[in-house]
Amino acid sequence: MAMPAKALLVGTGRVAFHLGHGLKRAGLELVGVAGRSGTHVRSLAETLLVPGFILGEPLPPADLMLIAVSDDAIAPVVKEIPITTAVVVHTSGVGDLDRLQPHPDRAVLWPVISMGPGAPLDLRAVPLVIDANTERARKAVKDLADGLSDQVLALDHHRRELVHAAAAISLNLPTFLLQRAQALLQREGIDPSVLTPSFVAMGQKIATVGAAAALTGPARRGDLGTIHLHLARLADDPELRAAYARLSSMILRAYDHPDHGNTDV
Ligand SMILES: NC(=O)c1ccc[n+]([C@@H]2O[C@H](COP(=O)([O-])OP(=O)(O)OC[C@H]3O[C@@H](n4cnc5c(N)ncnc54)[C@H](OP(=O)(O)O)[C@@H]3O)[C@@H](O)[C@H]2O)c1
Repeated sequence: MAMPAKALLVGTGRVAFHLGHGLKRAGLELVGVAGRSGTHVRSLAETLLVPGFILGEPLPPADLMLIAVSDDAIAPVVKEIPITTAVVVHTSGVGDLDRLQPHPDRAVLWPVISMGPGAPLDLRAVPLVIDANTERARKAVKDLADGLSDQVLALDHHRRELVHAAAAISLNLPTFLLQRAQALLQREGIDPSVLTPSFVAMGQKIATVGAAAALTGPARRGDLGTIHLHLARLADDPELRAAYARLSSMILRAYDHPDHGNTDV
């Protein structure tokens, strides 16, 4: 594996923070951090011990430019950068490679994980999805990804978007349901953290035995009486009640239980 010699990080948000630490840990030469806000640039540059640059001003030469800005800002930000021989890479799960025009060598490196504030993530355990428009860009992003992670998947735009949708279903929706379920308890004066240990344990169980074997609960067992009891308790929250009914019907059908032919249980 040959890591590209010099990289410039564009962006000062969550991905720039974790990627910047990962790049340094992997031994890549980070020539600087660039962004639009002087305060944010200074803060990340000091954390990573590299020079900071403001977008619109001259940027240092690099073999690779990693554009870790909001999805909608990728195209306008790269258009502001003079056409470069560097391989220009964005980190989004949804944007196509054309967003990086007019730069000739374009690539994607999308970390399939939720990146929030906190200690730098260990990227070796994070799947990285890559894509590129030229052989040069493909080799550069593959070498980079192999240097950062043990799990690298090359996927075209169509399949990357499918993985992005699947990640949203499997990660964002259960997290939102947890938030709404905790609000239910809070309204009754019950400590919402009572739900947290089982949520965490389920993630670990899924990693061990897979989602199909890990699933439990009344719909999985076909306990219609319990489902109807839950639906009655949700009468004051029609949105959550509808979501519970629809998802329970999906599970009942998936496990060949009768749901009285009604999609809402
Ligand atoms: N967070 C995740 O879980 C995650 C995971 C994988 C991939 N991604 C992808 O990584 C990329 C960055 O996401 P993030 O979570 O790091 O976002 P973020 O924490 O919200 O940071 C966004 C960055 O974009 C900059 N920005 C926004 N609009 C700009 C503009 N018009 N011109 C210049 N800079 C602009 C912001 O600058 P200011 O600081 O000046 O506002 C900030 O540095 C996105 O493409 C996202 O889809 C995110």
